[in-house]
Amino acid sequence: MIIAPSVLTADLSDLANACQKAVDAGLDWLHLDVMDGNFVPNLTFGPPVIKALRKALGDGPVFDAHLMITNAEQSFQQYIDAGCNHISVHVEAVTHLHRLVTAIREAGASVGVVLNPATPIDAALEVLSEIDLILIMSVNPGFGGQSFIPSVEKKIRRLNAAIQEQVSAGGRPVQIQVDGGVKSHNIAMLRDWGVTNCVVGSGLFNDSRALIDNLAIIHKALE
Ligand code: DX5
Ligand code: ZN
Repeated sequence: MIIAPSVLTADLSDLANACQKAVDAGLDWLHLDVMDGNFVPNLTFGPPVIKALRKALGDGPVFDAHLMITNAEQSFQQYIDAGCNHISVHVEAVTHLHRLVTAIREAGASVGVVLNPATPIDAALEVLSEIDLILIMSVNPGFGGQSFIPSVEKKIRRLNAAIQEQVSAGGRPVQIQVDGGVKSHNIAMLRDWGVTNCVVGSGLFNDSRALIDNLAIIHKALE
């Protein structure tokens, strides 16, 4: 199970330090929540901040960009140029999904598609052979610290079956990432459903404990 920390609930005035803490704790994915104030009702950061983080953190960590933006077709290259290794785009925000996932791959990044809680998996299945990851949102995107929506179980199980089928036929393995409300109390259940990559925000970055202690609790839950 890959744990991809989301820094949304970290101290944003000290973003590089928050990311460094995650890297020092052994987490080599960083989930970067890019919001444009249009597709979602919140604004975070974009390519210049990501570029600065890449400079501060070095080449080691995988920068996993979760683009909650309306113009990914026009702007994805800026995120790759800023140092993102992986780009995930929302099916709800893209008109020509096949064209975009192909373009992201050709530009040298790995690629994912994201489904909001109310979006069926069908569109993602149409590009399953072209992508590296599917991100199932288990909250409505826009804010950290929301509660996990349990009805995503059916989608995850169906998706896992479709991926297993693709792999059995010699096709590409696709990671299932879940984002929103993932905590120590539900992460083992997600693994049982077939999830291979969990975004964890407030479960890691909160005022109750240090990141390293929160991570130990999550690892314990996965034993
Ligand atoms: C929501 C973001 C998530 C979120 C995760 O729009 O995509 O990455 O911040 O935070 P938690 O784990 O607190 O739900
Ligand atoms: Zn996210």
